[in-house]
Amino acid sequence: MAESLTDTKQVQELLNRVAGLDQRGGDERLKRIVHRVATEMCRIIEEFDVTPTEFWTAVSYVTRLGQANEVGLLVPGLGIETFLDVVMDEKERRAGLEGGTPRTIEGPLYITDAPLAKGEARLDQDPERGEALFVEGQVTGPGGKPVPGAIVDVWHANTKGGYSFFDPSQSPWNLRRRIETDAEGRYRFRTIMPSGYGCPPDGPTQHLLSAIGRHGQRPAHVHFFVEAPGFRKLTTQINIAGDKYLHDDFAFATRDGLIPEVERHDDPAEIKARGLNEPFATIRFDFQLNREAASLPEAVVVREHAKAA
Ligand code: DHB
Ligand code: FE
Repeated sequence: MAESLTDTKQVQELLNRVAGLDQRGGDERLKRIVHRVATEMCRIIEEFDVTPTEFWTAVSYVTRLGQANEVGLLVPGLGIETFLDVVMDEKERRAGLEGGTPRTIEGPLYITDAPLAKGEARLDQDPERGEALFVEGQVTGPGGKPVPGAIVDVWHANTKGGYSFFDPSQSPWNLRRRIETDAEGRYRFRTIMPSGYGCPPDGPTQHLLSAIGRHGQRPAHVHFFVEAPGFRKLTTQINIAGDKYLHDDFAFATRDGLIPEVERHDDPAEIKARGLNEPFATIRFDFQLNREAASLPEAVVVREHAKAA
């Protein structure tokens, strides 16, 4: 084909009609976006000589992706959720905002309204053999001023990499809590050391990743939302140092500043003092929030979440 078919008058007219550009009603910006998407699909079909059979295979794939509830899994796997963070970081930078704990992706496994505790909580409810992990830190604002009454909403996987609610073998709210910071802005919790997450091996996300020579593994991590009145909501994660996938995360969420040191404790007196009989781990991680201001892009992301029944 000498000339691009997409560029012909016939196809250009088709695309204008597809996007409603020849109609008065409707949203102008959405029309332009639909026009771009449809145009790029035509260009891809042309450039890669996509056959009808291949095209309908892709349609089936997208259908299965939705049926398996894995759209929210593939999006970060394709780097798009990280790109949204890159855009938000850049908008904040241009608005003159600097400092604070780095954001990183939320991922698809958050559940709203986890039990609320004051100051401290224990997250592991289900009996599992694993390393006890104690996490503590302080929420501060710019300049290090403590933020009492902040809500630290934390969720993470169990030792098998599964999340309660999505993994029916776990009890409701296992490894999920909201913790309100104390008068000094401090929070702390006891839990078990999570394992990294792997995409469901037979699911459509892993299917595509495998087809392009990629794995679907995440390093062990702990998710957080940190919120307080007058401050910008922070969406972030900490990664567990030493994990094989620390810098090879299929969801591209690892960032400098989000890899705290993990301290291992095997001194018998310390073990006893914690009421344990095995070595344990501790992490200290402080969150620094930025002040909210009307000039800044919206930090609260409106996103549909599963709700526990
Ligand atoms: C993804 C993110 C997670 O935090 C997780 O545990 C699993 C998957 C994701 O981005 O797809
Ligand atoms: Fe996760």
